[in-house]
Amino acid sequence: MATTATVRQLHQDPAGANAASLVAIEGITMSFGDFTAVRDVDIGVGDGEFLAIVGPTGCGKSTILNAVAGLLTPARGRIAIDGKPVKGVQESVGYLFQQDALLPWKTALQNVELGLRFRGVAAAEREARARAWLAKVGLTGFEARYPHQLSGGQRKRVQMAQALIVEPKVILMDEPFSALDIHTRHLMQNELLRLWQEQRRSVILITHDLEEAIALGDRVVVLSAGPSSRVVESFHVPLDRPRDVAEIKLDPCFIDLYRDIWACLRGEVEKTYAQQRD
Ligand SMILES: Nc1ncnc2c1ncn2[C@@H]1O[C@H](COP(=O)(O)OP(=O)(O)O)[C@@H](O)[C@H]1O
Ligand SMILES: [Mg+2]
Repeated sequence: MATTATVRQLHQDPAGANAASLVAIEGITMSFGDFTAVRDVDIGVGDGEFLAIVGPTGCGKSTILNAVAGLLTPARGRIAIDGKPVKGVQESVGYLFQQDALLPWKTALQNVELGLRFRGVAAAEREARARAWLAKVGLTGFEARYPHQLSGGQRKRVQMAQALIVEPKVILMDEPFSALDIHTRHLMQNELLRLWQEQRRSVILITHDLEEAIALGDRVVVLSAGPSSRVVESFHVPLDRPRDVAEIKLDPCFIDLYRDIWACLRGEVEKTYAQQRD
């Protein structure tokens, strides 16, 4: 069996942006007053690449994602999407968050239509496209339901349709499945992979779940414990697609990779726990 060192050599991959990056995060430092959350972070995401970022709680994962979305401005460094510097909220970006972002007073159909409404698409076209997207995520017949009349998994499907209907160049996901039970989570992860394979977009998935990162990603970037978090390593995930997220966890390559990345992540998680004890 390969030793950890050889596996790491095989999987290690530069994290930084290059000419082929659709999303280029270059030397960003993110600060809140005197507090520096992340420092000198370089991450590139290729066109159609599925990038997963893992790191201990509080290390700055959401902060980086919010910077890519244009919701926060870096103290230093730059971010570009498709060669254009990110300034303010980005139209070319779709979001999927952990918490329900659905409006409770709007139906599933109306919630899915929202992004098109903001973009000034006419009512008839909006409705037709929203119905088609609800069908794609398996919710035909649920168009008129309100969020409280849907299960957690169904609400997540509506959110996926809501994020993807605007055909974003980049999809940002912040712990999107962590509130779901394990079976629903696997279903939603497979669903997401199916939709992504149909029309590959660049994805940045933030998660504290290393299994999820490997099962879904083309690459896994590990961030260090905060403050002043940085990229520790980047690992290529050489697992074939299409993938079944529940089954892939039994693949020897998955297990090797998990062991290797965990060896890197574990130290950072332990540092975070040690800080919290002080
Ligand atoms: N608006 C804010 N003001 C002050 N500190 C913040 C703010 N947002 C996040 N932080 C701090 O920045 C660090 C990174 O936060 P966050 O990006 O949410 O971490 P993660 O998503 O990795 O758990 C944490 O220490 C957090 O307390
Ligand atoms: Mg977070």
